[in-house]
Amino acid sequence: MTDVPAKRYTEALQFAEGQVDSLVIVHPDFFPCYTVDGKWRHEGESWTEWTGGFLTGMMWNFFQRTGQDVWRDRAEHYSSLLELRQVDRNVHDLGFLFLNSYLPWYERTGDEALRAVLLQAGKTLGKRFIETGGYLCSFMGLDSLFIDIMMNVPLLFWVAKETNDNQLRDVALTHCRTTAKWLVRPDGSTAHEGKFDLASGQFLGQSTQQGLRPESVWARGTAWSMYGFSKVYAMTGEPTFLEVAERTARFWLENLPEDRVPYWDFDADLSKPPPWGAQKDSSAGAIAASGLLDLADQTESQEHAIAYHTTARAILDALVSPDYLADQTPGWEGILKHAVYHTAKNLGVDESVAWGDFFLVEALTKVVLKNST
Ligand code: GLY
Repeated sequence: MTDVPAKRYTEALQFAEGQVDSLVIVHPDFFPCYTVDGKWRHEGESWTEWTGGFLTGMMWNFFQRTGQDVWRDRAEHYSSLLELRQVDRNVHDLGFLFLNSYLPWYERTGDEALRAVLLQAGKTLGKRFIETGGYLCSFMGLDSLFIDIMMNVPLLFWVAKETNDNQLRDVALTHCRTTAKWLVRPDGSTAHEGKFDLASGQFLGQSTQQGLRPESVWARGTAWSMYGFSKVYAMTGEPTFLEVAERTARFWLENLPEDRVPYWDFDADLSKPPPWGAQKDSSAGAIAASGLLDLADQTESQEHAIAYHTTARAILDALVSPDYLADQTPGWEGILKHAVYHTAKNLGVDESVAWGDFFLVEALTKVVLKNST
C-alpha cells in the first residue's frame, strides 16, 4: 500500500465519523435506512426494519480504530436501543442487527447480560427454520428463501458454538447447503430468492424482490453470497462453503465494469437510463470489497488471493473518490453516494444507504488497521 491511498482511506474514515457525528446530534436515537435527496430523515417507507446494526457497527469500527471514548459510549448506547429486537420474529435480519452491535460489545466486556441477548437473538432467528425445505425463511413468507440470509446465519453458528447446541448448528448448516444448492448457480451468479412448496419442501424456482428478473444477477445479492459464504467458511471450516464463496467471487471479478463498482444488476441493459438501466449500486461494491479482503486471506491459491485483494482495493479506491464519496457534496448526509435499496419500489435509488456506509467503513478500517500494525 502506498502512502497516498493510506492517507485517503483515513481521510474517508474521518469524513464518515463527521457524518455519523452530525446524524446523532441532529437526529438523536434515529436509525437510518436510506436517504432521499441525500437526507436521512424522511417519510419514505422502509419496507422492512433491518438496518439498525449498521449505525452501531460504524460506531464500533470508529472506536476500534481511534480508541475514543465518545465512539464506545455511542456504540453502547445505540446497541442498547436494539435490545428489544432479540425477540423480533418479523425479520430474518437478526444477524445484521446483533453481530454488529451486541457481539462487539460482548467481546469487549465479557458481560453475561450481553451474551444472553445474543443467545436469545440466535434462538429467535433459528425459529425461522422450515424443516421441509431446509432453510431459514425470509420475512416475505414461509415459502421464501433469500440470499441475504447468508449474512445473518453466522449468528446461529456463533450461538451454537457458545452453547454447544448441535441442533442449532445443524439448522445453520442445512440453511447454507440449501442456499448453495438452489440460489448459487454453476457460474457463481446468484438468485435473490427461492420459492418452495411448504408441504413437500420441493424447490419451485428462483425469484426476485430487488433484482431485475428471477433469472438475473442482482449485484447486492451476489455480494451477500460471496461475503456470507466466506463468513460461514470461517466459522465451520467446510471446504464446500469456501468453494461457493470463490465461485461467486470469480463471477464478480469477471463481470465488473471498468471502474470496478457494479451496476445494480449484472443483467441491466446499460443502454437504458436509471433506475432500470445504467444505475450503479455502490453498496454492493462496499460489501464485496469487505468480503474480498477476507476471502483473500482464506483462499489456498496465491493467485486468487492477489486477485481478490487487488479488486477489493480497486473498488475501495473508486468508492473514496469524489465520484462516490459524499465529502465534496455539500448538504449530503450520507457517506457513500450512488447506492440502491429497492428499484421496483423506487426506494433509495441513487442515494446513500445505511449498509453501504457501514461496509465501506468496515472495509476501510480493515485496510487501515492492517497497515498500521
Ligand atoms: N434486505 C437486504 C438488502 O436490501 O440487501
